[in-house]
Amino acid sequence: MTSNEDDKACEIAIIRRKVDWLLSPLRLSHSDLQRVQALMRQEMELGLGKETNARSSVCMLPTYVRATPDGTERGEFLALDLGGTNFRVLVVRVAEDSIRIASEIYIIPTSIVQGTGVADLMEQILPLGFTFSFPCQQLGLDKAVLLNWTKGFNASGCVGKDVVQLLRDAAQRKENFALNVVAVVNDTVGTMMSCGYEDPKCEIGLIVGTGTNACYMEEMRNVGTVEGNDGRMCINMEWGAFGDNGCLDHIFTTFDRLVDEKSINPGKQRFEKLISGMYLGEIVRYILLAMVEKQVLFHGKPCTKLQTKDIFKTRFLSTIEIDGLGLRKVLAILRDLDLHATFEDSVLVREVCQTVSLRAAQLCAAGMAAVVEKMRENRGLDQLVVTVGVDGTLYKMHPHFSQNLQQTLQVLAPKCTVTFLQSEDGSGKGAALVAAVACREARP
Ligand code: GLC
Repeated sequence: MTSNEDDKACEIAIIRRKVDWLLSPLRLSHSDLQRVQALMRQEMELGLGKETNARSSVCMLPTYVRATPDGTERGEFLALDLGGTNFRVLVVRVAEDSIRIASEIYIIPTSIVQGTGVADLMEQILPLGFTFSFPCQQLGLDKAVLLNWTKGFNASGCVGKDVVQLLRDAAQRKENFALNVVAVVNDTVGTMMSCGYEDPKCEIGLIVGTGTNACYMEEMRNVGTVEGNDGRMCINMEWGAFGDNGCLDHIFTTFDRLVDEKSINPGKQRFEKLISGMYLGEIVRYILLAMVEKQVLFHGKPCTKLQTKDIFKTRFLSTIEIDGLGLRKVLAILRDLDLHATFEDSVLVREVCQTVSLRAAQLCAAGMAAVVEKMRENRGLDQLVVTVGVDGTLYKMHPHFSQNLQQTLQVLAPKCTVTFLQSEDGSGKGAALVAAVACREARP
């Protein structure tokens, strides 16, 4: 080697050492993941117990949904969907063997239903299912008290109130009509129900989008927070808050702590902040800033734009990680952020994105492994075959998230055969189906 080549090799080795030093806390071993799985299981048990519920970071909220669809549901239902980004109104016709969304889907920019089109639909006073994707203490199928906002929402005057009553009042006040709300459901529950219509083995719902959360069918005898021991009830885990009591502190990195501190809800939704679309871009941004500081990236030149919160979108991860994507495309994304990257820089940026999204998928798998293993044990089975209904932009759009999730889950829960079924418009359709099942069960 010439001395020039020597210098170059030495420089590369130094950069590699620094990169590994920065990224190694984000690389989780098999035993790290097993520990997360065990902790999730422990928090689930605490959350289900009447006396212990308050100590758990995973709320394990009863949903009063006791059955998945059995195919005999019929009728027309309204569905309202307040999720992470939009508020939508749908009319869903449940017929023999098919569910049709018979109306247009209204995408309404404000969180309040406005306009005559919507009013016309609602005047039919169809039974209505309301998807409300935030943590609620349900007092019945149609009564849900908002515990706290998540995912950047912060509207005042709602926490501690029954959101169904707030919706009814708003409809009365704004449009002067009554709503026949028969069910309020979390988006995870809507997703499970809509996939459950296609596949009776679907007894778990998962969302990996702006936020992350899961629900599953638990044995009533294990649900200490609701009277009665017969049958099953769907539990909205609110797993996004896993770790809010400190039980995950050992896996948080400097970058995770920065993301948390600068968020509008510090100390809250700590598991969600490791996994979901609202936060992955931010984690990457903090890592890139640290790499610049350590002179590993962009020749150590300070990058003003990269200091702006939320400038690095999670959808950039989804693009940057596409297999075979030319480095030129990565360079173009970085250039838009005023980052004048070399080819070496863009290879490193891709490695950062891969590390962050892989960890997210693996942590999600550890959570899911706790759920499927619990269901298997509940049922006294050697082998559990189950389907997870899943929705959310990160899951659907990221090129490797779902594969990484499924592979890790298989390793962590080898006695469970888990199929993932993507839901089409799950939360809206699912809310209508919960209403349909409720109407079916109320039939004489
Ligand atoms: C947040 C909400 C939860 C919802 C999830 C996915 O974690 O608290 O209710 O299911 O986001 O939208």
